[in-house]
Amino acid sequence: MKYTEISNLVKTRFSWYPAQMKSNAKIPDESIWKLLELANYAPNHKRTEPWRFVVFSQEKVKEFYTELASIYTTITPKDDFDQAKVKKLQQRVEKISHVIVIVMRRDEKERVPIQEEEYAVSCAVQNMLLATNSLDIAGYWGTGKLAYSKEMKDYLNLNEQDKCMGFLQLGVPIENLPKLEKKPMSPIEDKVDWR
Ligand SMILES: Cc1cc2nc3c(=O)[nH]c(=O)nc-3n(C[C@H](O)[C@H](O)[C@H](O)COP(=O)(O)O)c2cc1C
Repeated sequence: MKYTEISNLVKTRFSWYPAQMKSNAKIPDESIWKLLELANYAPNHKRTEPWRFVVFSQEKVKEFYTELASIYTTITPKDDFDQAKVKKLQQRVEKISHVIVIVMRRDEKERVPIQEEEYAVSCAVQNMLLATNSLDIAGYWGTGKLAYSKEMKDYLNLNEQDKCMGFLQLGVPIENLPKLEKKPMSPIEDKVDWR
């Protein structure tokens, strides 16, 4: 593969949000499996393969967002609680076809530092994100307090040392969307100390 092809793939990857997704449209399960297959090729130290995924599809998507709304209600202090946020979570069901919950499964023998397991899972997520466009999938990686809560860990039946690293929320892009302009990156030269 030529550098220009890889460069093009990397530079044209976009996060797409519910506003850019069709209502009540479904991604074929086979396309989700194609993403997951790529996740399985991420680099990982000592071959621990720490990525795990919990996929919600069909009516389980509704169950997932109902649970998210319930966790939000449970963990948010009264003064910060915003009913509109609950509604927003419930409304996601209209646009989101599949949710891939991203999980770091801690190696039982703890052969590598725990952050290395997270790095590997992030690489697995990037593998999936890079392929979304090619499969006509719109989506983004969502994180935050709900993902990191004990309640989410319990819901997913994770072990104490495991970590929910967020949710890939996926839908079908609206046709003929105007081409998104990627926010220009600040120059890489400013981020490199070349000695
Ligand atoms: C670790 C990580 C966590 C993220 N969490 C969120 C999030 O909670 N909510 C959200 O809207 N986007 C989230 N994003 C997506 C970013 O907002 C998005 O990647 C960024 O705006 C750059 O846009 P691009 O992906 O189109 O290049 C996250 C991305 C990463 C890598």
